[in-house]
Amino acid sequence: MQWTKDLSVGVEKIDEQHRELFEKINDLVAAVKQSVCKYKIGDVIKFLEDYIEFHFGEEERYMVEFGYPGYEAHKAQHEKFKANFSELKKELPKLEGGTKPGSYDLSVETNQVVVDWILDHIAKVDRHLGEFLKGKV
Ligand SMILES: [Fe+2]
Ligand SMILES: [Fe+2]
Repeated sequence: MQWTKDLSVGVEKIDEQHRELFEKINDLVAAVKQSVCKYKIGDVIKFLEDYIEFHFGEEERYMVEFGYPGYEAHKAQHEKFKANFSELKKELPKLEGGTKPGSYDLSVETNQVVVDWILDHIAKVDRHLGEFLKGKV
């Protein structure tokens, strides 16, 4: 998955974090696809989770600081993603060696849950925020 210009929300600092987020998600998808040992997957998840926490926190801070009217709804989406991600996190370390039944399904699920959500969120919800923040930050 690649960040492209059409995913820009118009605020450089947020775009930069989204690019970084994509790199971390790619690391996770690669780790799952290669079915590396559970320790490696655990490390990648931890890394991604920390970055998600940081990035959502930054956007929420901007929303509060500038009185964004869509704050509650946007924050609720972040919360929902974090909850889904913790569910996924419980499943992923079970992938050991990639030979167990369900490994492939889990890999596909990772792509769907993480990648689809992020793309959709950036293209719609973050873009609205970006339009609001333009010229303010
Ligand atoms: Fe967001
Ligand atoms: Fe974002």
